[in-house]
Amino acid sequence: MKAIKKYLFVIVAMMVVGVAFASEGVHLEKVKNNLCDKASLQRGASLYVNYCAGCHSLQYVRYKEMAKDIGIVDKKGNVLEKLVNDNLNFTSDKATDPMLVATPRADAMQWFGVAPPDLSLVARSRGTDWLYTYLKSFYNDPKRPWGVNNAVFPDVGMPHIFLALQGTQEPVYVKQMLKDEEGKPYEKQVISHLELTKPGVLSKEEYDKVVTDLVNFLDYVGEPHKLERKRLGVWVLLFLVVFTLFAYLLKREYWKDVH
Ligand code: HEC
Repeated sequence: MKAIKKYLFVIVAMMVVGVAFASEGVHLEKVKNNLCDKASLQRGASLYVNYCAGCHSLQYVRYKEMAKDIGIVDKKGNVLEKLVNDNLNFTSDKATDPMLVATPRADAMQWFGVAPPDLSLVARSRGTDWLYTYLKSFYNDPKRPWGVNNAVFPDVGMPHIFLALQGTQEPVYVKQMLKDEEGKPYEKQVISHLELTKPGVLSKEEYDKVVTDLVNFLDYVGEPHKLERKRLGVWVLLFLVVFTLFAYLLKREYWKDVH
């Protein structure tokens, strides 16, 4: 009983802390991406290689496998290698190579202070909602080396890659009462939301769509077999239903003479 109470206490404490954190700053926005939408995955891949691959690698992804999964294939299901090499592969000659990065790591360390991390698993480690919100939450901050900061990644070392597309955002602050480690209350300015002060070339809806396609692609990259698993899952469930039916009929047949 004591152990149960202790666990309950820990769970409640975690919930309280969770709520306290959640109420601080910008909330995560839900992304409505669809892994079955091949056109969206292809747009996402193109955005990725054009805007992100200069700094970030996808070391667990090979061009060819990726192209096959996202539907860059001919009618027979063969990967259109020339199309892939001409449009998506800027780092190597072979479509069978992993998606590495052109920038040497040492240079990157010098330019950004931190090496841009590999993004193969980022959709799993951070979550798709976080990624979506992150890419929409860069704001103007002249104190930072790139002139931008991020509402969900304070003091981020990455420039705002989509600045021209999204435009410039300014933070709007609210005062919030927080408690320090000793439980003493103190007041802190936290960002409540961001306001678009200088529009980019895209409207808000168009920009959201761009980010959704990119997050969709990274979601696929994080778990390439997710689609396959879901498709198989349906068959497994159907099999179980049919199997149960036959098992029931068999049982009835066996027990007929006993009654
Ligand atoms: C000019 C180089 C550069 C480009 C281009 C770039 N990034 Fe980054 N990115 C960085 C650096 C540097 C960091 C590390 C930031 C830090 O730790 O402060 C980073 C961090 C990130 C992170 C956080 C990873 C984590 O879990 O900590 C994500 C997500 C990310 N980048 C996504 C993207 C996406 C998507 C694109 C393309 C739209 C992109 N980046 C383009 C340099 C770049």
